[in-house]
Amino acid sequence: MNLILLGPPGAGKGTQAKRLEQAHGLVQLATGDMLRAETASGSELGRRIKAVMESGALVSDEIVIEVIEQRIAAPEAKDGVILDGFPRTIPQAEALDAMLAGHDLKLDHVILMEVDEAALVDRLAGRFSCRACGASYHERYHRPKREGVCDVCGSHDFVQRPDDRPEAVQKRFEVYRQQTAPILPYYRAKGILETVDGMGEMDAVTKAIEAIISR
Ligand code: AP5
Repeated sequence: MNLILLGPPGAGKGTQAKRLEQAHGLVQLATGDMLRAETASGSELGRRIKAVMESGALVSDEIVIEVIEQRIAAPEAKDGVILDGFPRTIPQAEALDAMLAGHDLKLDHVILMEVDEAALVDRLAGRFSCRACGASYHERYHRPKREGVCDVCGSHDFVQRPDDRPEAVQKRFEVYRQQTAPILPYYRAKGILETVDGMGEMDAVTKAIEAIISR
């Protein structure tokens, strides 16, 4: 099964992708995580994209398509993938179709997670993550089980994403409206776009997504 989780910054795509990965043995392909790993590596490419990401703008289609292309046909993705943060533009959506067709794969579901902007601001402002393993938390909605200790790797070191600063968040919302929202009609026209209410608690959102993919 191959699916896309779509939605604005902070909609909960990463949170739900991790749950689906564990429950269904799928592989999460999160372009934001891949690009952050590249910037952390200090590579030449990482240095080039760091400022773009921190401003809230999109990295070029060419770079992101190449990153995904390498992973989508990898042996570990053979049971299916959850695309989180990709595609984000029409050229990316078209490139994905070509990639899937080239590997004789198909998209089973495109799921849009709808969340009000005020809730998105609140989620992004309160988000923090483990510096060591990247596990994501929230000040109020998802705290580590033991205060100050990462549930996944036991690290005590947490960070906030630079692009969760208010100026960058506003830029990300604008980019979503202008460049990513146009892919919704693209998938609606193919008859595979489905919507879940992303405003509920995490478990309720998981249940709504599970109802779609188990059909
Ligand atoms: P990316 O990392 O993909 O960021 P994003 O799409 O803006 O999404 P987020 O990771 O911020 O949010 P999310 O929807 O995953 O929410 P989460 O589950 O964390 O991209 C970052 C940057 O990389 C881009 O701006 C761009 O520069 C670049 N990039 C990436 N992909 C690209 C592409 N394809 N093309 C070009 N450039 C690209 O949840 C948020 C918070 O809310 C968490 O704290 C969580 O605990 C909490 N939460 C989650 N669900 C709930 C709930 N139901 N109730 C309460 N709290 C919740």
